[in-house]
Amino acid sequence: MTRLRLAVIAGDGIGREVIPIGLDVLRRVGAVTGRFEVQTTDLPWSCQYFLEHGAMMPSDGLAVLADHDAIYLGAVGFPGVPDHVSLRGLLLPLRQGFDQYINLRPVRTLEGIASPIRTSDKIDICCVRENTEGEYVGIGGRFKRGTPDEVAVETSVFTRHGIERVARYAFEQARRRSHRLASATKSNALQHSMVLWDEVVNGVSVDFPDVEVARYHVDALAARFVNNPGSLDVVVASNLFGDILTDLGGALQGSLGLAASGNINPEGRFPSMFEPVHGSAPDIAGRGLANPMAAVWAAAMLLDQLMRWRRRDS
Ligand code: IPM
Ligand code: MN
Repeated sequence: MTRLRLAVIAGDGIGREVIPIGLDVLRRVGAVTGRFEVQTTDLPWSCQYFLEHGAMMPSDGLAVLADHDAIYLGAVGFPGVPDHVSLRGLLLPLRQGFDQYINLRPVRTLEGIASPIRTSDKIDICCVRENTEGEYVGIGGRFKRGTPDEVAVETSVFTRHGIERVARYAFEQARRRSHRLASATKSNALQHSMVLWDEVVNGVSVDFPDVEVARYHVDALAARFVNNPGSLDVVVASNLFGDILTDLGGALQGSLGLAASGNINPEGRFPSMFEPVHGSAPDIAGRGLANPMAAVWAAAMLLDQLMRWRRRDS
């Protein structure tokens, strides 16, 4: 029987409530199918950990995680630790350090859950978000802090390599699905980064003549998510655009609490990380109200990815 070695970071707030349920489901699936067993390393890294140790994770955190098949993450962030500290101390270093350059986020209407929009179409969109560069690189600084002349600079970094690999992944997804890809751009206003984005997506499209690619400015694409979600299948977007579009997607599903995601290093050089998209929800934490379905869905994505690799390698 296969052993899945999972690093588990339940994190903060409702992360601690939903992750044990996801693990129960995973274990049960392993037992019922007789296909795998789950071995976990529980890591207490969280805002609580930060308050005790002055860091969200130990300095050898990535090395500790590297020795696992995957990471199962709950949520990070809690009042008392500023969000940019907790997220830059744990979530983002893992995505970037493990080169998890794909953030795969399915948007699917689920039976019994009403979408806030009236549509007869079943919504089934596969969002592929770039996850390691773009608007999230954290390069910049503040000048003349606290004065009326204060300046903040936050630089986006788009590389040909980074765009090409996420585009290629998205084209491959489209090839497996409906052969349609929508690329989120904004090259009418962002004349450097998004013009490069378009050029690279066009270049990759040459290798996928069977995939029809549409380019939408992200603002118009957001409107399309609401007005005509049935026209979308695979969507590829930069880090920030993908972040925003997938919250919109979660809302279309009827609840952000139901959205799951995989932070994937497709080559399997580093462990990938699976998490519900919802946050730590301090307002309902500890009250037994959290819906664990997104965590269960994230566990399903984890299993799907690990089994895909095992099949490929065997
Ligand atoms: C997400 C979250 C994160 C992001 C935050 C918490 C930094 O919103 O996973 O979508 O923006 O990527
Ligand atoms: Mn988000």
